[in-house]
Amino acid sequence: MIRLISIICLMVGLLYSCADNATVSGDELKPILPAVPFAYDGLRLPKGTNPAGVTNRNIKFINGQPVMINGQFVFEPVGNVTIKPWVATLGRVLFYDTKLSLNNTIACGSCHHQEKAFADGLQFSTGFEGRITGRNSMGITNPIVQNNLFWDSRSKTLHDLSLQPVQNHIEMGMENISRLIEKLENTAYYKPLFNKAFGTEQVTPERISTALSQFVGSITSNRSRFDQGLNNNFANLTELERLGNDIFHSDRAKCSTCHGGNNFSALDGPGDPYGGDFSGQDLRGATNIGLDLEYKDKGLNNGKFKIPSLRNIDLTKPYMHDGRFKTLEEVVEHYSSGIKQHRDLDSKFTDGKGNVKQLNLTHLEKKALVAFLKTLTDSEMISDPKWSNPFKQ
Ligand code: HEC
Ligand code: HEC
Repeated sequence: MIRLISIICLMVGLLYSCADNATVSGDELKPILPAVPFAYDGLRLPKGTNPAGVTNRNIKFINGQPVMINGQFVFEPVGNVTIKPWVATLGRVLFYDTKLSLNNTIACGSCHHQEKAFADGLQFSTGFEGRITGRNSMGITNPIVQNNLFWDSRSKTLHDLSLQPVQNHIEMGMENISRLIEKLENTAYYKPLFNKAFGTEQVTPERISTALSQFVGSITSNRSRFDQGLNNNFANLTELERLGNDIFHSDRAKCSTCHGGNNFSALDGPGDPYGGDFSGQDLRGATNIGLDLEYKDKGLNNGKFKIPSLRNIDLTKPYMHDGRFKTLEEVVEHYSSGIKQHRDLDSKFTDGKGNVKQLNLTHLEKKALVAFLKTLTDSEMISDPKWSNPFKQ
């Protein structure tokens, strides 16, 4: 228990340090917000990517299977994501407010720290009443151009995701949504915020979800050294980084066939900068990369997990759905020599007869890949005040 408490205290994003917690109750913290909201509608998207709400299409699934008519996928509109500055401002306050958890100790920001590109640096995170999440907290960068969210790709849009952690017992302990509504209605600083965002003070689950999705959706990045390089033929990168870029996009390493486009994420949806390569295994942007012969956590199914975006990857360690790898070197070593021959291993890692094919990278190639991955860090995103904790004074 003591150990759990000290883990909680260590979590940088926590609104109240544990020591303060007792004294805070009567004398609650209020968010400090700018009089004119930040320009959350000015999305900073990587070159060639589109927000899901603009391309407005998504493969239709029924019971986990894609719907096909005459051999063609069927598309359905996805929720339109138009970011409004006051709605996202409300979302910012909600994101960092521990009131969203049953016992006022956990906020979204407790497990999603801005300076770590919204991951938390831990293998697993501590949620409500010290319970540990079953999966590694995910970084949040450009979720608006992805159509599959969570490690098992179970959510397609930000909107249907946002209330899930709040209602999830382990993460925040607030499965009774009407109690949350009541709590927010009784918190003075929310009245003007709901009013500015939606025109009335009324608190509803729909509004909470919309505000959180808009805030999270506004978290975008196109200011990394890689992005700068897109405009100057990568003259700003070192020789090693440029070699890494070439290997990443080569037929041999195939990294970019999964971590694709300029968002380095799955290529199978509205975020697909190439207009939709829906070939086989990458459906729902989840696949099996041979981490284990037997998966304890099956993910979407049979060890298929979301192909995560590699934006800000240097900041979101440890890696994989279970945080098993501490460094990028370990991740690259997995692809080079550690792929297991799982029966559902992605065919990109087999020789055509179903036998596993390791990449067998040289020492230099591995170093170059790691150096390249580090060019995806956007240090402006992680210090931009519009995504920072408004309760910190
Ligand atoms: C106790 C830690 C914890 C808290 C609190 C928490 N999260 Fe998460 N978050 C996680 C973990 C762990 C995952 C991956 C879960 C999974 O795949 O099942 C995740 C996944 C996500 C993702 C998916 C990212 C992607 O690329 O697919 C988003 C977005 C997100 N959380 C937003 C939020 C919001 C908004 C809140 C507050 C309402 C919140 N989180 C609260 C730990 C947490
Ligand atoms: C067949 C598709 C595929 C290919 C090819 C591929 N990856 Fe991945 N990558 C994934 C999936 C899926 C995951 C998440 C697996 C999990 O957590 O179980 C992942 C995870 C990662 C992660 C960790 C991300 C995180 O947030 O924890 C890194 C880094 C990474 N890959 C880099 C690379 C590099 C570098 C290459 C090329 C050498 C590569 N990948 C090739 C599908 C792929």
